Amino acid sequence: MTAQIIDGKHLARRLRTRFRERVAALSMRGVVPGLAVVLVGDNPASQVYVANKVKACEESQVRSFMHRFPAACTETELLERIGELNLDPATHGILVQLPLPPQVNVRRVLESIVVDKDVDGFHLYNVGALVVGNSIFPPCTPYGVQLLLETTGIDVAGKNVVVVGASNIVGKPMALMLLQKEATVTICHAKTRDLAHHTIHADILVVAAGKPGLIKAEMVKEGAIVIDVGINRLADGRIVGDVDFEAVRERAAWITPVPGGVGPMTVTMLIENTLRSAERFAQGEAFHPAQPFWQVPAR
Ligand code: GUN
Repeated sequence: MTAQIIDGKHLARRLRTRFRERVAALSMRGVVPGLAVVLVGDNPASQVYVANKVKACEESQVRSFMHRFPAACTETELLERIGELNLDPATHGILVQLPLPPQVNVRRVLESIVVDKDVDGFHLYNVGALVVGNSIFPPCTPYGVQLLLETTGIDVAGKNVVVVGASNIVGKPMALMLLQKEATVTICHAKTRDLAHHTIHADILVVAAGKPGLIKAEMVKEGAIVIDVGINRLADGRIVGDVDFEAVRERAAWITPVPGGVGPMTVTMLIENTLRSAERFAQGEAFHPAQPFWQVPAR
Protein backbone atom coordinates (compact mmCIF):
# COMPACT_ATOMS: atom_id res chain seq x y z
CA MET A 1 0.00 0.00 0.00
CA THR A 2 1.24 3.50 -0.79
CA ALA A 3 -0.36 6.16 1.37
CA GLN A 4 -2.37 9.04 0.03
CA ILE A 5 -0.86 12.39 0.94
CA ILE A 6 -2.82 14.67 3.25
CA ASP A 7 -1.95 18.03 1.70
CA GLY A 8 -1.83 20.70 4.42
CA LYS A 9 -0.67 23.41 2.06
CA HIS A 10 -3.69 22.89 -0.18
CA LEU A 11 -6.18 22.81 2.70
CA ALA A 12 -4.60 25.90 4.27
CA ARG A 13 -4.91 27.76 0.96
CA ARG A 14 -8.58 26.78 0.65
CA LEU A 15 -9.38 27.92 4.17
CA ARG A 16 -7.58 31.23 3.66
CA THR A 17 -9.66 31.96 0.57
CA ARG A 18 -12.76 31.79 2.75
CA PHE A 19 -11.15 34.08 5.33
CA ARG A 20 -11.32 36.93 2.81
CA GLU A 21 -15.13 36.87 2.87
CA ARG A 22 -15.14 37.02 6.67
CA VAL A 23 -12.68 39.93 6.69
CA ALA A 24 -14.91 41.75 4.18
CA ALA A 25 -18.00 41.12 6.35
CA LEU A 26 -16.16 42.48 9.40
CA SER A 27 -15.03 45.50 7.44
CA MET A 28 -18.69 46.32 6.63
CA ARG A 29 -19.17 46.59 10.39
CA GLY A 30 -16.10 48.82 10.71
CA VAL A 31 -13.93 46.11 12.28
CA VAL A 32 -10.39 45.28 11.13
CA PRO A 33 -9.24 42.08 12.88
CA GLY A 34 -5.99 42.58 14.79
CA LEU A 35 -3.46 40.19 16.33
CA ALA A 36 -0.80 41.29 18.84
CA VAL A 37 2.31 39.11 18.79
CA VAL A 38 4.61 39.27 21.81
CA LEU A 39 8.15 38.05 21.15
CA VAL A 40 10.72 37.94 23.93
CA GLY A 41 14.44 37.50 23.18
CA ASP A 42 16.06 36.25 19.99
CA ASN A 43 15.41 32.50 19.86
CA PRO A 44 15.97 31.75 16.12
CA ALA A 45 13.10 29.22 15.87
CA SER A 46 10.68 31.64 17.56
CA GLN A 47 11.73 34.39 15.16
CA VAL A 48 10.94 32.15 12.18
CA TYR A 49 7.56 31.08 13.65
CA VAL A 50 6.61 34.68 14.42
CA ALA A 51 7.66 35.88 10.95
CA ASN A 52 5.38 33.19 9.45
CA LYS A 53 2.49 34.31 11.64
CA VAL A 54 2.93 37.97 10.69
CA LYS A 55 3.10 37.01 6.99
CA ALA A 56 -0.08 34.94 7.29
CA CYS A 57 -1.81 37.95 8.87
CA GLU A 58 -0.77 40.15 5.94
CA GLU A 59 -2.06 37.59 3.44
CA SER A 60 -5.42 37.43 5.22
CA GLN A 61 -5.76 41.19 5.76
CA VAL A 62 -5.49 40.79 9.51
CA ARG A 63 -3.55 43.59 11.18
CA SER A 64 -0.56 42.38 13.21
CA PHE A 65 1.11 44.33 15.99
CA MET A 66 4.61 43.18 16.98
CA HIS A 67 5.66 43.69 20.59
CA ARG A 68 9.34 42.82 20.99
CA PHE A 69 11.07 42.56 24.36
CA PRO A 70 14.74 41.88 25.15
CA ALA A 71 15.61 38.46 26.61
CA ALA A 72 16.39 40.19 29.94
CA CYS A 73 12.96 41.84 30.27
CA THR A 74 11.02 41.43 33.50
CA GLU A 75 7.75 39.60 34.04
CA THR A 76 6.20 42.89 35.20
CA GLU A 77 7.00 44.57 31.89
CA LEU A 78 5.27 41.75 30.02
CA LEU A 79 2.26 41.76 32.34
CA GLU A 80 1.89 45.52 31.93
CA ARG A 81 1.94 45.29 28.14
CA ILE A 82 -0.56 42.42 28.12
CA GLY A 83 -2.79 44.44 30.46
CA GLU A 84 -2.80 47.26 27.88
CA LEU A 85 -3.49 44.87 25.00
CA ASN A 86 -6.37 43.31 26.94
CA LEU A 87 -8.09 46.71 26.87
CA ASP A 88 -7.08 47.72 23.33
CA PRO A 89 -10.14 47.60 21.02
CA ALA A 90 -7.93 47.17 17.90
CA THR A 91 -6.47 43.94 19.33
CA HIS A 92 -8.69 40.85 19.03
CA GLY A 93 -6.02 38.23 19.64
CA ILE A 94 -2.92 38.18 21.86
CA LEU A 95 -0.19 35.64 21.23
CA VAL A 96 2.86 35.30 23.45
CA GLN A 97 5.44 33.24 21.59
CA LEU A 98 6.89 30.44 23.71
CA PRO A 99 9.36 29.62 25.14
CA LEU A 100 9.87 32.56 27.52
CA PRO A 101 13.16 33.25 29.37
CA PRO A 102 13.61 31.59 32.80
CA GLN A 103 13.04 34.77 34.88
CA VAL A 104 9.45 34.90 33.59
CA ASN A 105 6.67 32.72 35.02
CA VAL A 106 5.04 31.35 31.86
CA ARG A 107 1.76 30.42 33.52
CA ARG A 108 1.38 33.84 35.11
CA VAL A 109 1.91 35.49 31.71
CA LEU A 110 -0.52 33.18 29.88
CA GLU A 111 -3.15 33.61 32.61
CA SER A 112 -2.88 37.41 32.29
CA ILE A 113 -4.27 37.29 28.73
CA VAL A 114 -7.98 38.00 28.77
CA VAL A 115 -9.81 34.79 27.82
CA ASP A 116 -11.73 36.46 24.97
CA LYS A 117 -8.39 37.27 23.22
CA ASP A 118 -6.59 34.01 23.98
CA VAL A 119 -6.31 32.91 20.33
CA ASP A 120 -3.55 30.40 21.18
CA GLY A 121 -5.96 28.67 23.59
CA PHE A 122 -3.30 28.37 26.31
CA HIS A 123 -5.13 30.16 29.16
CA LEU A 124 -6.25 27.74 31.89
CA TYR A 125 -9.87 28.70 31.24
CA ASN A 126 -9.58 27.64 27.59
CA VAL A 127 -7.66 24.50 28.60
CA GLY A 128 -10.49 23.64 31.01
CA ALA A 129 -13.05 24.38 28.30
CA LEU A 130 -11.23 21.89 26.08
CA VAL A 131 -11.48 19.26 28.83
CA VAL A 132 -15.27 19.63 29.01
CA GLY A 133 -15.54 19.89 25.23
CA ASN A 134 -16.62 23.47 24.43
CA SER A 135 -13.50 25.55 23.94
CA ILE A 136 -13.76 28.99 22.35
CA PHE A 137 -10.26 28.87 20.87
CA PRO A 138 -8.85 25.38 20.29
CA PRO A 139 -5.02 25.40 20.29
CA CYS A 140 -3.84 25.98 16.72
CA THR A 141 -1.74 22.90 15.96
CA PRO A 142 -4.20 20.23 17.18
CA TYR A 143 -7.05 22.24 15.64
CA GLY A 144 -5.23 22.08 12.28
CA VAL A 145 -4.63 18.33 12.70
CA GLN A 146 -8.33 17.80 13.37
CA LEU A 147 -9.23 19.50 10.07
CA LEU A 148 -6.56 17.50 8.22
CA LEU A 149 -8.08 14.28 9.62
CA GLU A 150 -11.53 15.39 8.43
CA THR A 151 -10.25 15.62 4.84
CA THR A 152 -9.70 11.83 4.81
CA GLY A 153 -13.46 11.37 5.35
CA ILE A 154 -12.72 8.82 8.09
CA ASP A 155 -14.74 9.13 11.30
CA VAL A 156 -12.44 9.06 14.34
CA ALA A 157 -15.21 7.76 16.68
CA GLY A 158 -14.17 4.39 18.11
CA LYS A 159 -10.75 4.46 16.41
CA ASN A 160 -7.55 3.69 18.30
CA VAL A 161 -5.61 6.94 18.34
CA VAL A 162 -2.06 7.08 19.65
CA VAL A 163 -0.56 10.51 20.31
CA VAL A 164 3.23 10.47 20.71
CA GLY A 165 4.26 13.51 22.77
CA ALA A 166 2.51 14.95 25.81
CA SER A 167 3.27 18.67 25.51
CA ASN A 168 0.79 21.33 26.62
CA ILE A 169 0.94 22.88 23.14
CA VAL A 170 0.26 19.77 21.03
CA GLY A 171 0.06 16.31 22.63
CA LYS A 172 -2.32 16.91 25.55
CA PRO A 173 -4.83 19.16 23.72
CA MET A 174 -4.70 16.83 20.70
CA ALA A 175 -5.63 13.88 22.90
CA LEU A 176 -8.51 15.84 24.47
CA MET A 177 -9.89 16.94 21.11
CA LEU A 178 -9.87 13.40 19.72
CA LEU A 179 -11.38 12.03 22.93
CA GLN A 180 -14.18 14.57 22.45
CA LYS A 181 -14.70 13.02 18.98
CA GLU A 182 -15.08 9.63 20.75
CA ALA A 183 -11.76 8.08 19.77
CA THR A 184 -9.97 5.69 22.15
CA VAL A 185 -6.87 7.71 22.95
CA THR A 186 -3.44 6.65 24.22
CA ILE A 187 -0.77 9.25 25.00
CA CYS A 188 2.86 8.15 24.78
CA HIS A 189 5.80 10.26 25.93
CA ALA A 190 9.52 10.21 26.62
CA LYS A 191 9.11 7.75 29.55
CA THR A 192 6.84 5.33 27.65
CA ARG A 193 8.33 1.83 27.57
CA ASP A 194 8.23 -0.01 24.24
CA LEU A 195 6.74 2.76 22.10
CA ALA A 196 6.19 0.38 19.17
CA HIS A 197 3.89 -1.79 21.33
CA HIS A 198 1.48 1.16 21.43
CA THR A 199 1.96 2.67 17.97
CA ILE A 200 1.38 -0.63 16.14
CA HIS A 201 -2.24 -0.64 17.41
CA ALA A 202 -2.96 2.89 16.17
CA ASP A 203 -5.59 3.41 13.48
CA ILE A 204 -4.56 7.05 13.73
CA LEU A 205 -1.03 7.95 14.81
CA VAL A 206 -0.21 11.56 15.68
CA VAL A 207 3.48 12.18 16.31
CA ALA A 208 4.69 15.34 18.04
CA ALA A 209 7.94 14.31 19.73
CA GLY A 210 10.53 16.50 17.99
CA LYS A 211 12.77 13.49 17.16
CA PRO A 212 13.63 12.91 13.52
CA GLY A 213 13.19 9.28 12.40
CA LEU A 214 11.43 8.24 15.65
CA ILE A 215 8.62 6.38 13.87
CA LYS A 216 9.80 3.57 11.59
CA ALA A 217 7.67 1.53 9.20
CA GLU A 218 7.54 -1.55 11.46
CA MET A 219 5.96 0.57 14.24
CA VAL A 220 2.96 1.49 12.06
CA LYS A 221 -0.19 -0.57 11.47
CA GLU A 222 -0.98 -1.38 7.84
CA GLY A 223 -3.59 1.12 6.61
CA ALA A 224 -3.11 3.65 9.45
CA ILE A 225 -3.48 7.42 9.17
CA VAL A 226 -0.16 9.02 10.16
CA ILE A 227 0.04 12.69 11.12
CA ASP A 228 3.56 14.05 11.57
CA VAL A 229 3.68 17.22 13.67
CA GLY A 230 7.50 17.23 13.96
CA ILE A 231 9.57 19.96 12.34
CA ASN A 232 13.29 19.14 12.64
CA ARG A 233 16.22 20.74 10.83
CA LEU A 234 18.97 18.21 10.03
CA ALA A 235 22.69 19.04 9.91
CA ASP A 236 22.51 19.17 6.09
CA GLY A 237 19.77 21.82 6.34
CA ARG A 238 16.86 19.57 5.34
CA ILE A 239 13.57 19.92 7.25
CA VAL A 240 12.08 16.56 8.27
CA GLY A 241 9.36 15.36 10.63
CA ASP A 242 9.44 12.66 13.31
CA VAL A 243 8.30 9.92 10.92
CA ASP A 244 10.47 8.00 8.45
CA PHE A 245 8.28 9.28 5.63
CA GLU A 246 9.50 7.21 2.67
CA ALA A 247 9.24 3.86 4.51
CA VAL A 248 6.03 4.62 6.44
CA ARG A 249 4.17 5.81 3.35
CA GLU A 250 4.43 2.21 2.04
CA ARG A 251 2.40 0.94 5.01
CA ALA A 252 0.01 3.76 5.88
CA ALA A 253 -3.24 4.63 4.08
CA TRP A 254 -2.80 8.36 4.64
CA ILE A 255 0.20 10.43 5.68
CA THR A 256 1.12 14.10 6.10
CA PRO A 257 4.39 15.29 4.53
CA VAL A 258 6.93 17.56 6.25
CA PRO A 259 7.06 20.29 5.14
CA GLY A 260 3.60 20.92 3.69
CA GLY A 261 1.45 18.98 6.16
CA VAL A 262 0.67 20.24 9.66
CA GLY A 263 2.90 23.36 9.51
CA PRO A 264 0.77 25.47 7.14
CA MET A 265 -2.35 24.51 9.10
CA THR A 266 -1.04 25.74 12.47
CA VAL A 267 -0.66 29.31 11.29
CA THR A 268 -3.95 29.13 9.37
CA MET A 269 -5.81 28.13 12.52
CA LEU A 270 -4.26 31.09 14.34
CA ILE A 271 -5.86 33.36 11.74
CA GLU A 272 -9.12 31.40 12.09
CA ASN A 273 -9.09 31.97 15.86
CA THR A 274 -8.27 35.67 15.40
CA LEU A 275 -11.17 36.12 12.95
CA ARG A 276 -13.45 34.23 15.32
CA SER A 277 -12.38 36.56 18.11
CA ALA A 278 -13.02 39.68 15.99
CA GLU A 279 -16.47 38.27 15.07
CA ARG A 280 -17.26 37.62 18.74
CA PHE A 281 -16.36 41.22 19.60
CA ALA A 282 -18.36 42.54 16.64
CA GLN A 283 -21.40 40.51 17.73
CA GLY A 284 -21.14 41.60 21.36
CA GLU A 285 -20.25 38.09 22.57
CA ALA A 286 -16.90 39.20 23.96
CA PHE A 287 -15.82 42.12 26.11
CA HIS A 288 -12.70 44.00 27.13
CA PRO A 289 -13.03 43.55 30.87
CA ALA A 290 -10.34 44.97 33.10
CA GLN A 291 -10.43 42.00 35.46
CA PRO A 292 -12.73 39.13 34.54
CA PHE A 293 -13.78 36.86 37.38
CA TRP A 294 -11.79 33.85 36.19
CA GLN A 295 -8.49 35.71 36.25
CA VAL A 296 -7.47 34.68 39.71
CA PRO A 297 -3.80 35.57 40.22
CA ALA A 298 -1.53 32.62 39.44
CA ARG A 299 0.33 31.21 42.43
N1 GUN B 1 5.98 27.90 20.51
C1 GUN B 1 5.93 26.75 19.80
N2 GUN B 1 4.70 26.55 19.30
C2 GUN B 1 3.94 27.60 19.70
C3 GUN B 1 2.58 27.96 19.50
O1 GUN B 1 1.79 27.28 18.86
N3 GUN B 1 2.20 29.12 20.10
C4 GUN B 1 3.04 29.88 20.83
N4 GUN B 1 2.56 30.98 21.37
N5 GUN B 1 4.29 29.57 21.03
C5 GUN B 1 4.75 28.44 20.47
